[in-house]
Amino acid sequence: MSSDPTPRPSSRPAPRPAPRRAPRRAWRRRRPALLAALAAGALAAVLLQPQTAADADEALPYQDPGLPVPQRVADLLGRMSLAEKIGQMTQAERVDVDADPSLITDNRLGSVLSGGGSVPAENTPTAWADMVDRYQQAALDTPLGIPLLYGVDSVHGHGNLLGATVFPHNIGLGATRDPALVERIGHITAEETRASGPQWVFAPCICVARDDRWGRTYESFGETPSLVTSMETAIDGLQGAPGQLDEPDRVLATAKHFAGDGLTAYDDSLADTGSYPIDQGIDRVTRAEFDRLALAPYVPAIKEHHVGSVMPSFSSTDFNGGDTDDAVKMHANADLLTTWLKQQQGFDGFVISDWRAIRQLPGTYADQVKTSVNAGVDMFMEPIQAPNNPTGWDEFIPTLTQLVDTDQVSMARIDDAVSRILTAKFELGLFEHPFTDRTHLAQIGSKAHHAVARQAAAESQVLLRNQRHTLPLRGNHDVYVAGSNADNIGNQTGGWTLTWQGGSTNVVPGTTILDGIERSARGAVTYSETAEKRIPRKADGIVVVGETPYAEGFGDVGGPQWAWDPADGGVPRQKQTMRLSDADTRAVQKVCAQAKSCTVVVVSGRPMVIPPALLRQIDALVASWLPGSEGAGVSDVLFGRRPFTGKLPVSWPRTVAQEPINVGDPGYDPLYRYGFGLRTR
Ligand code: BGC
Ligand code: BGC
Repeated sequence: MSSDPTPRPSSRPAPRPAPRRAPRRAWRRRRPALLAALAAGALAAVLLQPQTAADADEALPYQDPGLPVPQRVADLLGRMSLAEKIGQMTQAERVDVDADPSLITDNRLGSVLSGGGSVPAENTPTAWADMVDRYQQAALDTPLGIPLLYGVDSVHGHGNLLGATVFPHNIGLGATRDPALVERIGHITAEETRASGPQWVFAPCICVARDDRWGRTYESFGETPSLVTSMETAIDGLQGAPGQLDEPDRVLATAKHFAGDGLTAYDDSLADTGSYPIDQGIDRVTRAEFDRLALAPYVPAIKEHHVGSVMPSFSSTDFNGGDTDDAVKMHANADLLTTWLKQQQGFDGFVISDWRAIRQLPGTYADQVKTSVNAGVDMFMEPIQAPNNPTGWDEFIPTLTQLVDTDQVSMARIDDAVSRILTAKFELGLFEHPFTDRTHLAQIGSKAHHAVARQAAAESQVLLRNQRHTLPLRGNHDVYVAGSNADNIGNQTGGWTLTWQGGSTNVVPGTTILDGIERSARGAVTYSETAEKRIPRKADGIVVVGETPYAEGFGDVGGPQWAWDPADGGVPRQKQTMRLSDADTRAVQKVCAQAKSCTVVVVSGRPMVIPPALLRQIDALVASWLPGSEGAGVSDVLFGRRPFTGKLPVSWPRTVAQEPINVGDPGYDPLYRYGFGLRTR
């Protein structure tokens, strides 16, 4: 298992001047003349004239927005060299090209991404838009002027961008059972992302998390395919209705990770070895079970929501059971990527490989490229991110070229991949408006958007226990607040926030849960993280406990410990155990023993084990998930400004040893069952 975390570059390139605006294309100025020619029945003459983009006296067919997209794609494809085609299939990382965007021009790169935490030197909306436009100009400076597609992980809002609205992670959204709200969040995310440059997001994860020890459980809407499917309105919010992709508040969406990323078996032999024991692992299930738990959400994602791209999973499938030798990596799975996804389900978008994922396939690099492109991967996320990796897309391009030259990859496969990618670019309107439309720039992090995030945080709270109607709190009493997650927006927002792994910082604009409590309570509020300050007998106690941020396999229970992230100050990552820390446990015990009432709020990406003896001391227990930047949404339900309506998106186990535990299991005996949630008022 390759989970070699390597340090990211510590120094960021200096800020760059704003890009020059591209001169409007000649054909656009001449459009009336073109229309006249068409009206005069001269269409054939225009189309048949031998032309190049360089002497853009008239629009080439592919440049004509009046023509149907398939015709534009066919025309453009017919003008492209092999190098241009392979360039379209190649995705580099921001760090790879930032110092020298002419790499985009010279290599005919079709796409660039920002990995988690890969942000412009000045992390502002305008700097993002300037950055993407600068790369865009480099793409347009090619003979055919094919625009660049820029992708980013807006998995809970445009989390990389400082000042963007940060929504609850998917597990909290699953708890809301509110697909219309999830669509609205998708739309806001799209607006904030596109206004700052990127036109494509690697979201939503339509994973079905079956084992909460998985470090990506919080990226899942829940443990049942039906719940996940109901939340695919996220795709509609991101992309709009068919035909709306070219609007300045929509982005291309990605259904990920195809398929079975949440269905991998925990590998005990890998626990505490520095590898990921469950993330990127193997689905050891029958094909029927795989269809039900892994593939099912993709059917509506494709047929009803028309998702534009699909990202294969790092994981493997082994339908035969037994030894691991039969396991097939999803990036190599032609039967699922091509036969099932593209042919049987009619997926007509494109497949983007995950981060250097093809490098986990067996064989030489040439074998890896050949296998994945022939399996149906259309675009290749091959970052270098110097000095992390010696090679990336710079190796991909000559390797694929060689494979085509030696007939190991057919020209038909290349043309199919490129047509799919170009179709998305045409539908996004990039040929007409390659540069960032900044109309909605001022909406980023707006009051209205924060209000939706606050509503989402409130709706996502699940009330698990409420002895003697402790909640909602009356508000006129004094309040005593403790716990590691009471005053930390970074812990509330989790991974994929400002950095890949997230961090325990208070940098993201918003309110902590403590801020929210201070605004809601009318009595005096005392805050003491470890509950060492005196606890007034008459106070209502609120202890906010939980996890610290993580992403991917670093969040696996038994996952690697790792200290490189400079944003974390080089401190080793907290071990993820699904258990409360000793400090949090002590704070709960103290407050519950001394305060008038005691409410425990668990801020975490998944259920956490509450031992029976501790539970007995707790009056009210709330699953808060990762509520995002609006801690006030949490206090809204604690103080009865809004009712508790959330329902568990996953089963809440009694012990870690119960994992994996899911509704419908034989002998199902969780602490709180899937769908459970008390209501107030
Ligand atoms: C993750 C993807 C993500 C990609 C780009 C990968 O490691 O698995 O979910 O979209 O990185 O950041
Ligand atoms: C990137 C992430 C990516 C991860 C994969 C990180 O350095 O920032 O976006 O998902 O590497 O290993």
